[in-house]
Amino acid sequence: MRAIDHNTITDATIDQMATTPNPRLKQIMESLVHHLHNWGREIDITPEEWLEGIKFLTAVGHKSDQYRQEFILLSDTLGFSSLVNTLYDRRSNEKGTQTSLLGPFYRQDSPKMELGATIVTKPSKGMEVVLYGKVVDAAGKGIPNASVEIWQPDETGNYDLQLHDPSEMDLRGHFHANAEGKYWMRTVAPLGYMIPMDGPVGDMIRAQKRHGFRPAHIHFLVGAPGYRELATALYLSGDEHIETDTVFGSAGSLVVDVNHNDPNAPIKNLPAIHFDFQLVKAAAAESGRVGADPSQITKAGA
Ligand code: BEZ
Ligand code: FE
Repeated sequence: MRAIDHNTITDATIDQMATTPNPRLKQIMESLVHHLHNWGREIDITPEEWLEGIKFLTAVGHKSDQYRQEFILLSDTLGFSSLVNTLYDRRSNEKGTQTSLLGPFYRQDSPKMELGATIVTKPSKGMEVVLYGKVVDAAGKGIPNASVEIWQPDETGNYDLQLHDPSEMDLRGHFHANAEGKYWMRTVAPLGYMIPMDGPVGDMIRAQKRHGFRPAHIHFLVGAPGYRELATALYLSGDEHIETDTVFGSAGSLVVDVNHNDPNAPIKNLPAIHFDFQLVKAAAAESGRVGADPSQITKAGA
């Protein structure tokens, strides 16, 4: 019989999983065991620390429901969601707009809106802006009728889910670009905000003395048949946390200015944010969403 010690336990575990019929699952689990055991050896983990970790993950599970996904928040704050995004982008043959976090506040079935409509449905003191641009392919050609979903926090840095009855939607909309791939809509400039800090992930952030902020941003999910779905966000220049985003989503190529004198803006007399989204051809059915509507994750059998 094989002696189990702090080194042989790794091969013993991997050997027992060798019967896994699904090759990708086998690869993922073998590698996970390998890295997890190496991590335990490297830090010489104690039983007390192991139990703290179990308690922490249990609390992460308890904090999650159909409106809140604490595991995604954990992945985000560990930089793992951004890693998944960058690997997804790297797997493309064409160069398109960089992916950014979907975040925990995405909702499916946001209201369908006409081009030029405002996504603001509640009284707001925010600075009204027009957001416009084009959805284009890798060659820069407009993609007619591309789908553009948008969601964002308000001028105080809160999403609808954090302010109202969470079943009521505000500052979200689902648009379709016109025949030239152009889109335009009205909204208010968002404020940066602290990630949800009232759960175990917040405890972790405080224990690490991190500030917990995200820079001001607006989320987008852009797609069209035959193209990879693009989950991304635009970050407002000048935000004090743009270089130190707690979830590592802000990137230079996604930083936009609010232009107070844009002669090309489709709605006059409003400050404008301009951005063209570039979609890349889909090689296979795959999703760029690192995140999901939490209600879909908690759905029975999901
Ligand atoms: C967000 O942008 O909505 C977000 C992303 C990750 C963690 C918290 C919030
Ligand atoms: Fe966000």
